[in-house]
Amino acid sequence: MNDSIRSQFPSLKRIINGRAIVHLDGPAGTQVPQSVIDAISSVYSNSNANTHGQFTTSMETDSLIDHTRNQMAAFLGAESGNNISFGANMTSLNFVLANAIARSLQPGDEILITQLDHEANRGPWLQQRKHGIVVREVLLDEDGSLDYADFEKKINEKTRVIAMGMASNILGTVNEFDRVRQMAYEAGALLIVDAVHFAPHLLTDVKMIDCDFLLCSAYKFYGPHVGILYSRHGALDRLDTDRLRTQEQHAPYRIERGTLNHAALAGVSAAVSFIESFGEGSTQRDRIINAMGVIQTHERGLAQQLYLGLRDIDGIDIYGPPIKETQRAPTLAFTVENYTPEQICRQLAEKSICAWDGHFYALRAVEVMGLLNQGGVTRMGISLYNTADEIEYVIATLKEMLNN
Ligand SMILES: Cc1ncc(COP(=O)(O)O)c(C=O)c1O
Repeated sequence: MNDSIRSQFPSLKRIINGRAIVHLDGPAGTQVPQSVIDAISSVYSNSNANTHGQFTTSMETDSLIDHTRNQMAAFLGAESGNNISFGANMTSLNFVLANAIARSLQPGDEILITQLDHEANRGPWLQQRKHGIVVREVLLDEDGSLDYADFEKKINEKTRVIAMGMASNILGTVNEFDRVRQMAYEAGALLIVDAVHFAPHLLTDVKMIDCDFLLCSAYKFYGPHVGILYSRHGALDRLDTDRLRTQEQHAPYRIERGTLNHAALAGVSAAVSFIESFGEGSTQRDRIINAMGVIQTHERGLAQQLYLGLRDIDGIDIYGPPIKETQRAPTLAFTVENYTPEQICRQLAEKSICAWDGHFYALRAVEVMGLLNQGGVTRMGISLYNTADEIEYVIATLKEMLNN
C-alpha cells in the first residue's frame, strides 16, 4: 500500500488541528475513494431513473442493480447475483430476516446468539422472546474469544437458529466457524452470519462458511451506506417476509423493500472494483482473493505495530486476542489508567487522530467485560489506507499524553 492509494481518498487530505487526519475509525465506517464518489454522482448526472421502464436510463438502472448483485456475489464467493439482496443497512435487513424466520418457529424453539456480538445481530433475535421463543447466549471468555464448551452445552435438538458474528467489531476476535458449522449441521439449525466487521479485512467465502444467510455493510469496505444479504439458494424463497404484492416474490427481491438507493448501489459496485484493483488473477474472484491477501498483510503489519507500541506504554490495558494470531481482525480495544476512553479520544482528536470511545453497539461484550460503567474502551481500527508513519505518530502521541 503506497501514497498513490492514499491519494485516491479525498477525505484523508482534510487538515484538522494543523495536521492531515489519522483515521482509525474504519470499524465505524471507512473513508471512500474517488472512484466510489464518481460512481455515485454519475448516476445522478447521467441516468437517474427508476426501474423497469422502456426508456434508456431506466434500463441502465436495471442493469446497474443486476451488475451490483454480481459484483457482490464475486466479493462474497456466492454462486450468482440471485443470492444477493440489498437494504438500507445490515440492521434493517436483519430485522426483516429475523421476523420472517421467527414466523416459522414454534414457542419453545431455541435461537442461539453470543455475548460478543454487535446488537444488530442480537436485538432482532432477542425480541422473538415475546413470541415464546427461547433465546440463549453463548458466553464470552476473558481472553476475548467465545466459550466453545458453553456453545456445545447450549445447542440442542430444539436449536433452530445460530446467529453470530464472524469477527468482533470491538476486540477483533475471529470466531471459529469450522466448529460452529459442525454444531449447526448436527443440530439441523440455520446458520446466520454477521460478516460486517470481517468482510473488509479477511476473505469472505460463503461456500466455505456454508451459512444459510450472511450479512455485511458496504460502508465498512470503502463504499456507501447499503446493507447486503447473501442467502443460500432456495433459503429466502422459503421465508414469509414482509413484502408487497406488487413486488417480485422470489429471491433476491423477496426481502427488499420499496425503491433501492440506485446511486449508492453504483458506489457498492465501485467499492468491489476498488478492492479488486489490488489483486492479480485471471478471474474476478481470483483477483478479489489475491487482493484480500494483500490487504490482510498490510493491515496485520500495522495492527502488530500498534499492538506492540500500546503494550509498551505504562497504564494501557489491551483487550482481545493477540495480533500474532492469523485469524484476527486489525482492530484494537484498550483502556488507560486514570483516564476515561472519552477523555483519551478527545485528547487524540486534538492531535488529529480519529478514534472512537464507548461500546460501539457491542454493548453486551463491554457489559460482561465489566467496562460499561467506565465508559467502555478506546477502539482503533486499521484500514488499507493507514500507514506505518501514522501508527508511529499515534504511539508517540499517546506516550507524550501519558508522560511515558
Ligand atoms: C459487527 C457489526 N455488525 C453489525 C453492524 C450494523 O451494521 P449497519 O450499520 O449496516 O446496520 C455493525 C456496525 O457497526 C457492526 O460493526
